[in-house]
Amino acid sequence: MSTRPRTPAPGTPAPGKLPITELAAMKERSQPIVMVTAYDAPSGRLADEAGVDLILVGDSAAMTVLGHDSTVPATMDEMVVLTRAVTRGARRPLVIADMPFGSFQISDADAAANAIRFVKEAGADAVKLEGAGPTLSRVQAIVGAGIPVMGHIGLTPQSATALGGFKAQGRTADQARRLVDDARALEAAGCFSIVLEAVPATVAEEITRRLTVPTIGIGAGAATDGQVLVWHDLLGLYHGASLRFVKRYADLATEIRGAVSAYADDVREGRFPEEVHTYSMSDEELAEFHATRVPGRSA
Ligand code: KIV
Repeated sequence: MSTRPRTPAPGTPAPGKLPITELAAMKERSQPIVMVTAYDAPSGRLADEAGVDLILVGDSAAMTVLGHDSTVPATMDEMVVLTRAVTRGARRPLVIADMPFGSFQISDADAAANAIRFVKEAGADAVKLEGAGPTLSRVQAIVGAGIPVMGHIGLTPQSATALGGFKAQGRTADQARRLVDDARALEAAGCFSIVLEAVPATVAEEITRRLTVPTIGIGAGAATDGQVLVWHDLLGLYHGASLRFVKRYADLATEIRGAVSAYADDVREGRFPEEVHTYSMSDEELAEFHATRVPGRSA
C-alpha cells in the first residue's frame, strides 16, 4: 500500500496546479484572470478542461443547486461536500471555497477552524469571505493559519438585506471612497485577491489601479484584473431572474429538457432500449436456465 499522502499539505501545490503567486504576475502582465463557480466533480473537471484559472465553490450553490431563495441557508457541511466534489474533478485551477453565512461571523477562532475544514476535509486551495470591517481580523486569523484568503466587497449577497437588497453598491462618492478603503484594508490584512461585485466600472478601475493584488469583477466593468461568472448563469441553467451583469453563453436548460423528454417519449413508445443497449446469453446457458427453472412458477 502506498504511504504517499493523497492531499498535499497547505502551501504545497499539487503537481500541475496553478501557483497562487502566478495571479499577481498575471495582473502585472495585464493577462486577464478567468474564474467560474462550480459545485460538483463534473463541473470542476469541465471548467479545468476549458482552461479557467480559478474555480469558486460559491455559496451561490444555495440557490443554484440546493433550491433556496438566497445564499444565507448554505451550511459548512454542505459547502464541504460540494468543495470536495469540485477538487476531485479539477486539477490545474485553484479551488476557492466560499465561507457560508455563519461560518466566520462569530469569532476569529471559529473562522480559522472553518477555513481549516475546507483545506483538510475538502482539499480547497483557498477560501473567500464577504465583507470588510469586522471581516478584517477574520482574514488575518485565516491567513495566519496558512490559508490564502480572497476578499469580496460591493454587493455581498450574505448581507443583501442590510444593503437594501440585491443592488449595485458604491454609486455615491462616499460609498465609493469606502469601497476603496475597504479594498486597501483587505489587501493589508493579507488577501491574495478581491472580488468586486456590482460596483460602478469607474470605482472598480480605481480600486484595481490602487491594489497590487488582483481584483476579480462580477458586474464591475472591464477594468478589473479578472472576471467571474456563476456556472448556472453562464450556461443558462438557472431558472431565476438573471442580474444585469450576467452573460449567458449557452441555453443548456433547453437542451436538457429536450433530451430528457426525448428519452421519456422513447420509453413510452417502446423505442428504448434497443438491441444495442441489451445484454444477451449463450444458447447453451439459456437452455440450461430454462431447464432448471423452479418448478411450479410461471415463466
Ligand atoms: O457565491 C458566489 O457564487 C459568489 C460569486 C458571485 C462571486 O460569491
